[in-house]
Amino acid sequence: MVDLKNKIRALRSSFDEGLAQAGDKDSLKELRNTYLSRKKGRITLLLKELKNVSPTERPEVGKQVNEFKNYVAQKLEEYSKTLEEPRHIKFDMDLTLPGKRRYRGAPHPILLYKKRIEQIFLLMGFSIEDGPEIETDYYNFEALNFPPHHPARDDWDTLYLSDDLLLRTHTSPVQIRVMEKKKPPIRMINPGKVYRRETPDPTHIPMFYQVEGLVVDLGITFAHLKGTLECFLKALYNEKIKIRFRPSYFPFTEPSAEVDIGCTVCRGEDRQCRVCGGSGWIEILGAGMVDPQVLKNVNIDPEKYSGFAFGMGIDRTAMFSFRIPDLRNFYENDLRFIRQFS
Ligand code: PHE
Repeated sequence: MVDLKNKIRALRSSFDEGLAQAGDKDSLKELRNTYLSRKKGRITLLLKELKNVSPTERPEVGKQVNEFKNYVAQKLEEYSKTLEEPRHIKFDMDLTLPGKRRYRGAPHPILLYKKRIEQIFLLMGFSIEDGPEIETDYYNFEALNFPPHHPARDDWDTLYLSDDLLLRTHTSPVQIRVMEKKKPPIRMINPGKVYRRETPDPTHIPMFYQVEGLVVDLGITFAHLKGTLECFLKALYNEKIKIRFRPSYFPFTEPSAEVDIGCTVCRGEDRQCRVCGGSGWIEILGAGMVDPQVLKNVNIDPEKYSGFAFGMGIDRTAMFSFRIPDLRNFYENDLRFIRQFS
């Protein structure tokens, strides 16, 4: 009797196997014959063997044989249906449901903008340099011609870490670090973060990006500074951008200038414009000829060499370019804002 039960089990698994391999109607028919044919079907033979089982156990074993028979018949039926139906209906899924959307990361607009700036300067033959964000008083101020207690230090609300260490207030210390290491000709930019003790408002934040530029070589004049910045700003904005130079003051450049561009928001037509205050101009960078004293500080002979430098706020420039009304948008980590730039 145990024999018969085992037989059923074995037959069942060989039937399942046969069914899995049956790929068309003919093989299905063959399978049906093998198991259910009235004379020599494997199940028919099983039923015949029932008489060898003891009368007490016969009902139970009989029941199992019958169940197996129904199972085979049902499976064959089901499978023959699927063979008749078009294949895709076999999938138990609703193809009209919306899929799961996967979010692809997007670069931050400031980084995209920084890349754009780097690309333009790389094409003009500049190298890209790096420098520390924690600086010493010497690099941030003194080597740049700000003696201790010089009133020009008040232009920067500085975040000091100790008497001598501070978070750099501008990228200009990288000018010194590069000139200490390399001899002219030097043509470099340094994009990076700078820090100032500011209360955040639409146009001020305590951490922002600047890009520093420095060129030192034989015979460099103010005309080179003007030509380079005009070429750069036209590439960054467009050919028609209006540019003006205003005299200014920095301890490390002489003469110094500030550069304005025509307001990209109102184009000089709105007296109430919140971006340019109605003047039609927005300031984007400081620049000038490297002060001879700064060259001396790094052992470059100012009688032989001259240079120009500039420092531009990246966030501010990006803000005008993308016409974003509030600088703080860049740092609020609102993905809806960031994704617009990918
Ligand atoms: N470092 C100056 C600033 O942060 C900008 C500047 C750079 C000016 C280089 C002149 C030359 O305002």
